[in-house]
Amino acid sequence: MATVIHPARDPNTLSNYNNWVSTHIVANFDIIFEQKKLVGNVIHKLKSVTDAESTEILLDTSHVDIGDVQVNGQSSPWELLPPLEPYGAALRIKLNQGVGLNEMVEVNISVKTTERCTALQWLTPAQTSNKKHPYMFSQCQAIHARSIFPCQDTPDVKSTIDFNITSSLPVIASGLPVRDTTKATLDTEKVLYKFHQKLPIPSYLFALASGDISEAAIGPRSVVATSPDKLNECQWELEADTEKFIHAIEGIVYPYAWGEYNVLILPPSFPYGGMENPIFTFATPSIISKDRENVDVIAHELAHSWSGNLVTNASWEHFWLNEGWTTYLERRILAAVHGEAYRHFSAIIGWKALADSVEHFGHDHPFTKLVTDLKGKDPDDAFSSIPYEKGFNFLFHLETLIGKDKFDQFIPHYFTKFKGKSLDSYEFKATIIDFFQSDPEALKLLNGLDWDAWLYAPGLPPKPNFDTSLVDVVYELSRKWQSLPESTFEPHPSDVQGLTANQIVVFLEQVLLFERPITAELSRLMGEVYGLAKSENIEVANLYFQVGLRAGDVTVHGPTADLLSRIGRMKFVRPLYRNLQKANRSLAVETFEINKEFYHPICRAMVEKDLFGKKGE
Ligand code: BES
Ligand code: ZN
Repeated sequence: MATVIHPARDPNTLSNYNNWVSTHIVANFDIIFEQKKLVGNVIHKLKSVTDAESTEILLDTSHVDIGDVQVNGQSSPWELLPPLEPYGAALRIKLNQGVGLNEMVEVNISVKTTERCTALQWLTPAQTSNKKHPYMFSQCQAIHARSIFPCQDTPDVKSTIDFNITSSLPVIASGLPVRDTTKATLDTEKVLYKFHQKLPIPSYLFALASGDISEAAIGPRSVVATSPDKLNECQWELEADTEKFIHAIEGIVYPYAWGEYNVLILPPSFPYGGMENPIFTFATPSIISKDRENVDVIAHELAHSWSGNLVTNASWEHFWLNEGWTTYLERRILAAVHGEAYRHFSAIIGWKALADSVEHFGHDHPFTKLVTDLKGKDPDDAFSSIPYEKGFNFLFHLETLIGKDKFDQFIPHYFTKFKGKSLDSYEFKATIIDFFQSDPEALKLLNGLDWDAWLYAPGLPPKPNFDTSLVDVVYELSRKWQSLPESTFEPHPSDVQGLTANQIVVFLEQVLLFERPITAELSRLMGEVYGLAKSENIEVANLYFQVGLRAGDVTVHGPTADLLSRIGRMKFVRPLYRNLQKANRSLAVETFEINKEFYHPICRAMVEKDLFGKKGE
C-alpha cells in the first residue's frame, strides 16, 4: 500500500517531523562566557513515525557550528542545505539503511553556538544589576531554538529533556534540578548543573540562564531568582500573589502539573514582559514596580502552564490557542482573586490594545485574522495583541453564548483531552462541538455561531458589553482634560488619589486618543500635579512620555531617552522609539546607537526595522 505523506501542518520548520519525532533530548552544554558561546553536544532519540522507511533526517538549524554527527554511535555523513531565511538551513543526516515504523535511532550532534545566535543574549558584568559577573539567557519562542542546537523546531513535536550544563555561575533551566549530583565540582572552576524535564515539551520552551543569581521563597512551591542585590524587592513584589494565583487556576482547570512554579527576574534587556518557560517563568525587571501592580504578568505566565505548555498550538498560525486561552485564564485568575469587575477592567485594557493593533496593521490585513497564514513568513513579524485579545474575545464570546457554568465544565475537559499534545483550531472547534453533543441547547448555539468569521475574518470582532465600573471614573477625568483649556477644570492631586496604577494607565490611554492633542504646557502640568514623570511604575512612565511626545513637550525627550537606556522590553521600546522619532529623529537615532548593544538581538532587529526600515521592509 502506498504511504501518503501529509504536508507538515507547521510551515515554519524545515525538519521532516512527519517522518521522525524527537521523543527525548539530552542537551550537554558548557557555558563559555569568555567566548559568548555554548559548546557541547545534543542527543535526539528519534522515533520513526512513517512506514516509508525514511533514510534521511532533517533538523532545523540557524547559524550553528556543527562538528561530528553520530547515528547510533557511528559517525554519519551530513550536510547543511542552502539557507531559507528566516528559517535557517536544514541539517540533512543520511542513514545507511531505512528505518521502519516506530523504530528508534539515536542521533548525537556536536554543536557550538555562534555570534549570530538569535536565541541567546550575553551580557558583560557592566550590563548587569550588581556589575560583578557576566550573564547569559535564552529566549527561544518562536523559532530561535534552532540557533542553539539542531532540533525539530516546531511546537507540533514534544520531547522530554535532560540538561547537563556546566558553568562558572549558577544555572537555571526549564526542568527540575536533579539535586543529588548538582554542584559536582569539575577540574576547572566550573560546576555541573543537571535538570530533568519529565513532561514532554516543544523546542520553544527549552530555556537556560546563568549568572550571579540567588533565590528566595515566594510561596510553598515557588521561588524568585534574581541578582542578589535585587532579591528582597523581587520577593516582596511576588510573595503576596503567586500562590493565590496558582490556587485560583487549579480550581478552574486542574492541579499544577510541573512540580515547582518559579520566577526568574532577568536583567533589563529581557525583550518580553514574561516568557512561560516551564518550572521557571522568565520575566522583565519592569514588573518589579514596588506596588504589586504588574503581577498580572505572573498570572499570565502561570496560566501558560496549562495553555501553551501542556496544551500547545500545533503551529504559530494557531498562536491564539496559546495566547488567547492564556489571556482568558489570566483574567479568570484575576476575577477569582480581585473580583469580576477586575476581569472586565483588564478586558477593556485588552480591547484598546486590540483596536490599536488592528489600526496599526489595517482592518483588512491578514495578520488581523485569528488564524494566520505564515507560509514563508517570520512568526516574530506577525506578533501582536491580536492572537491575545481576539482570542480572549472569542473564548469570552463562547462563555457568554453557552453560559459560564457550561463553559466551566468544558475547560478541564479540553485541557485533559490535549494534555501533552499539540492541536490546531479545527480540532478546537471539533472538540467543543463534540463535548456538547448531548446538550441540544448548547449545541444549537454552537452550530449557529459564525465560526468562519471568528477564525478567518480580518479586523475587529463584535465588542462585548464589558462592566465599566472601574474605568468610568478615569474616562470622566480624561473628559475634563479634553475640555481644557476652554473649561474651568483645575487639575489637583486629589483627582488621582485612590486610583490604581492600572487606572492611571487607562486614563493616559484615553488622553492619547484625543483628536486634538493636549498642549505642551498642559502635558507638563499633568506630569507634575499627578506625579507621573517620576513614577516607578514603568507602564505609567511609558504612557506619560507618549503623551508628552505627542503634546510637543520637549522636557520629556531627555527622560524618554533615559528610559530607553534602562529597559529593553519591546512593549515599551518599540512605541517609544516610534514616537521619539516623530518628535526628534536625531535623538531617537542617537539613543539607539548608544544602546543597541544593550538590547537583545530580537529587540535590536525590530527597532532597526522601525527606525531604518531594514531587512527588506
Ligand atoms: N509567550 C509570550 C511571549 C512571547 C510571545 C515570546 C511570542 C516570543 C514570541 C508571553 O507569554 C507573553 O505573552 N508575554 C507578555 C505578557 C503578558 C501579560 C501579555 C509580554 O511579554 O508582554
Ligand atoms: Zn503569553
